[in-house]
Amino acid sequence: MAPAGWTGPLSLCVCLLLTCGFAHAGKLLVVPMDGSHWFTMQSVVEKLVLRGHEVVVVRPEVSWQLGRSLNCTVKTYSTSYTLEDQDREFMAFANDPWKRQIRSIFFLLVSPYTRIFDLFFSNCRSLFKDKKLVEYLKETSFDAVFLDPFDTCGLIVAKYFSLPSVVFSRGIFCHYLEEGAQCPAPLSYVPRGLSGFSDAMTFKERVRNHIAHLEEHLFCHYFFKTALEVASEILQTPVTAYDLFSHTSVWLLRTDFVLDDPRPVMPNMVFIGGINCKQGKPLPKEFEAYINASGEHGVVIFSLGSMVSEIPEKKAMEIADALGKIPQTVLWRYTGTRPSNLANNTILVKWLPQNDLLGHPKTRAFITHSGSHGIYEGICNGVPMVMMPLFGDQMDNAKRMETKGAGITLNVLEMTSEDLENALKAVINDKSYKENIMRLSSLHKDRPVEPLDLAVFWVEFVMRHKGAPHLRPAAHRAAGLGNGFLSVEGRMPLSTPVLEPAYPFMT
Ligand SMILES: *[C@@H]1O[C@H](CO)[C@@H](O)[C@H](O)[C@H]1NC(C)=O
Ligand SMILES: *[C@@H]1O[C@H](CO)[C@@H](O)[C@H](O)[C@H]1NC(C)=O
Ligand SMILES: *[C@@H]1O[C@H](CO)[C@@H](O)[C@H](O)[C@H]1NC(C)=O
Repeated sequence: MAPAGWTGPLSLCVCLLLTCGFAHAGKLLVVPMDGSHWFTMQSVVEKLVLRGHEVVVVRPEVSWQLGRSLNCTVKTYSTSYTLEDQDREFMAFANDPWKRQIRSIFFLLVSPYTRIFDLFFSNCRSLFKDKKLVEYLKETSFDAVFLDPFDTCGLIVAKYFSLPSVVFSRGIFCHYLEEGAQCPAPLSYVPRGLSGFSDAMTFKERVRNHIAHLEEHLFCHYFFKTALEVASEILQTPVTAYDLFSHTSVWLLRTDFVLDDPRPVMPNMVFIGGINCKQGKPLPKEFEAYINASGEHGVVIFSLGSMVSEIPEKKAMEIADALGKIPQTVLWRYTGTRPSNLANNTILVKWLPQNDLLGHPKTRAFITHSGSHGIYEGICNGVPMVMMPLFGDQMDNAKRMETKGAGITLNVLEMTSEDLENALKAVINDKSYKENIMRLSSLHKDRPVEPLDLAVFWVEFVMRHKGAPHLRPAAHRAAGLGNGFLSVEGRMPLSTPVLEPAYPFMT
């Protein structure tokens, strides 16, 4: 007979394992942000759902990407704008970089096309107008909030319900990451966001870096004006950016020290750059055929990301002209009007399996807007890049890769057809670019834990322990006192008691 004695202990064992698995299952509230940000955050949320947690996603009814199906509870709230409004404001913003370059927060503020931010900032007002939804969120006792800080709503929600939070982001506008985490950022070697400087700055650049820092302290609260008004309304007390950002328990930052330069960090900052990289899948037949037909020269992959749909005609023709002058086949993801001078080596497609194409051994170069997702796909697959940064962190990403010899950055405003042609020929023919990106690739992939597992671990950690106050520096208690004369806004006044506990249960 089969050893019957085994079944008893075995089922007990299985039982224990299961209870063990479920004992840690918790309730997580997710406040995402629309657009490309969601692509990777979704992979973390999906994994948390698979691990048995009760996950509730709260999102605006109007959205580009958030409607994609999720195997968990999704609660929507109505917005004060339509999808057409969102598209129009975003197009205005996305087309602006082809006309002027945003190199500091000041330029961003005076740009006439930043209404898209106010649109997003208004979301939280809509969420809290939905009394039934707020009641539901209050009654469901969540263990933590997992949020994208971009539209600040997740930060407001975490504060309103006094829940510990895990922030998921490439970085934070202005100086609010340093302030929110109380993390030093010496101006002598940590370049400010948007500056496009490397960590080895000339004297002139360091002066510019100081001025950029000053500008942030002077102007950033104007940028967040609507967000802070909404937050103050909801929380019924004057709210500063410091109040919102400093509530964070753990920062999951989509970067690492292969992309970014070494700098001081805090114990509650966790680096998960490359979380979007996936094992390559076999290519669809259509793309395999293009690659087969490309011969010994191979292919170049060209995409300005999912958010850029149209390039001004003159610029598109210059680009098309340059692409026609290289022997490689170019696969260009572009949904705008077909340039009339498109050469016969260039194939326009509405969509391409970017990561799988970059993983193909015949791919010679990647032309990218240098968004962090694309940059990491380039790093993971070891493909040298020609970068055309447009907005946000793209300029800084491009500068980092260029400094490391893994690509060439072009200024989309000033570049000529010849510049693009030369840059492509350089990254394809000069072996150093390939060697450098391969070195970065092997450094990036040599790690003890995969970024997705690390992200899941820290969200669960915060859920299990109801926060991570032991990782909070005491500097928060003195946040109203220290940090020099620049702290003109966003700090608690000197006279208020500053020894507030991280969370209500902590004393
Ligand atoms: C969704 O979750 C339920 C229960 O957790 C499971 O039975 C079902 O197979 C899942 N569906 C998908 C598409 O993953
Ligand atoms: C491409 O080439 C490979 C290897 O020669 C071959 O196996 C494959 O069938 C080809 N694919 C297409 C779509 O022509
Ligand atoms: C593509 O165009 C070039 C020059 O314009 C020409 O020499 C070549 O034969 C063309 N190739 C194909 C496949 O049509």
